Amino acid sequence: MCGINGYSGHRRAAEVIMEGLKRLEYRGYDSAGVAMVEDGRLVLVKRQGELEVLKGVVPRFEGRTGLGHTRWATCGRPSDRNAHPFLSCDGKLAIVHNGIIENYTVLKTRLETEGHHFTSETDTEVLIHLLEGHYHGDLRQALADTVEDIQGTYAIAAVCEGGTEIVAARKENPLVVGLGVNENFLASDVTAFLSYTNKVLYIMDGETVSLTPTGVKVYDSQGELVKREPSLITWSAEDAQKGGFEHFMLKEIFEGPNAIHNTMLGALDMIENGEILSRTDFQTVKVVACGSSFHAAMVGKYALEEFAGVPTTLELASEYRYSPGAREAPLVILITQSGETADTLAAAREARRRGCRTLAVTNVVGSTITREVDEVMYTRAGPEIGVAATKTFLTQLLAMYLLSIRIGYAKGTLSHDSMRGALSSLRQSSNMVQSVLNHVHEIEEASRMIDSAQHCFFIGRNINYPTMLEGALKLKEISYIHAEGFAAGELKHGPLALLDSSTPVIAVAIKGDHTYEKMLANISEVAARDSPVLGVGSEGDTELARLCERMIFVPQVKPVFSPIPVTVALQILSYYVAKRRGCSIDKPKNLAKSVTVE
Ligand code: AGP
Repeated sequence: MCGINGYSGHRRAAEVIMEGLKRLEYRGYDSAGVAMVEDGRLVLVKRQGELEVLKGVVPRFEGRTGLGHTRWATCGRPSDRNAHPFLSCDGKLAIVHNGIIENYTVLKTRLETEGHHFTSETDTEVLIHLLEGHYHGDLRQALADTVEDIQGTYAIAAVCEGGTEIVAARKENPLVVGLGVNENFLASDVTAFLSYTNKVLYIMDGETVSLTPTGVKVYDSQGELVKREPSLITWSAEDAQKGGFEHFMLKEIFEGPNAIHNTMLGALDMIENGEILSRTDFQTVKVVACGSSFHAAMVGKYALEEFAGVPTTLELASEYRYSPGAREAPLVILITQSGETADTLAAAREARRRGCRTLAVTNVVGSTITREVDEVMYTRAGPEIGVAATKTFLTQLLAMYLLSIRIGYAKGTLSHDSMRGALSSLRQSSNMVQSVLNHVHEIEEASRMIDSAQHCFFIGRNINYPTMLEGALKLKEISYIHAEGFAAGELKHGPLALLDSSTPVIAVAIKGDHTYEKMLANISEVAARDSPVLGVGSEGDTELARLCERMIFVPQVKPVFSPIPVTVALQILSYYVAKRRGCSIDKPKNLAKSVTVE
């Protein structure tokens, strides 16, 4: 996720664009840049680092047309040369992009053969060279032809030297036009220009835009003019950063489907073509992480044993780094969304010291962990502002499923058909999440039974045992209710002593899971002690519903993939309990987004 913006009008474009980028920094902040039409020529300034770094080097441009970009790296680590905008070979065109170009390697090879010179490691740079090839005077048409060549997702803006026109196009990434008087604006979201105008035109997938100071034209994918009434924004700029959601956490929960979709883009090739874990001659695996990432590691253990039959051990990073280090697993997977968690970084170094191969699963391109391991598998959840892990956790689950399938196929545990079957099911995970989100209000209602609790149990079995640990962590870290997750089979070994009518129990039981009947028995045990049960189960499961006071239904999926929809349901539950309790949801007390110290 990156932030793009553009301006053409009567003001100094650099000033408007830099101010807009500041408001878009929540969308990405590892590098930034601007391209200005200055005295008829295109001038480009871009730097790695936060916007402040760029601000120090942008001269007092006088030009009235320009583009800006603030980056969240997904392809090509953060650096000056990988920052946007990009210039065409002749320096007459500039482009900025938010999204993922799936077929960029093929395009880059073709363009280099045609003589185009590349200056970066990014996927985006193919766009400017494609545009250059298609440009014969009509910039918008050239952009429309360019997007025909690409596969992937995009919000693109481009400008030509000497002009006041900005052209743009979008597919599956946001793009909005701000309408002013003798000036017009373009951005990833309205926050970038809300201080100048609240009159906006939302651009839809497949459409292209031609914007000048005196007019805006929108075209459909057939090149026909689109007539669309402007909308008036009533949100504040801060609300707009949250996309109209009250908290970043809820916005990021709702970004789950897109985060999964983007993580799958490109990853499938890596898995099917063996571009990751090219060597799989290890016998056992150890997965190391902290917090929510450790819960993802636990789900990964079940997936690794299910799909690859590989004996897998788990270790908290804070323990691993000081453990005696018996004969080590030759492959150590380290999961860290930030890539900066001190304990996990130390564990990576310890694993290498012990002679293990190391692979990191992380959400941040160029983060420290990427320099401490042998291989990296990126999730593509985009920046996560809320302290509680939501969309990043989902994409970690996805990454562990994908790695497990990769290892299973490479080791011959999975046939080619079984691999493709498993990947086909995983491709549905975006839809799984969306169908849970479509029932957000039912979950909000069901969660009311938790509001006044002081203690709360989460119980599950098999691959949903870690899911319940994660559900308990979510609830405790944002609502401050003492919540604990248990393997349901453990209740009679002690925790049952704590149960009474004041302690609600959240219990997951998924139809088709081989522990389903056992879970029903555990729920009956709990209900017999008068603890109110909130059941999480498959749509239409009346047998489970009969045992529970309230129900949250999730789509019927293969049990092995059920942590994905169950997790989202529990994220929503925790959010609404915390909201009704008036908690500081995006910034819970005593917690930081990234624990960079021991
Ligand atoms: C989860 O909601 C917390 N934000 C926390 O447990 C987090 O998962 C943990 O600190 C690990 O962070 P990392 O993935 O960046 O290493």
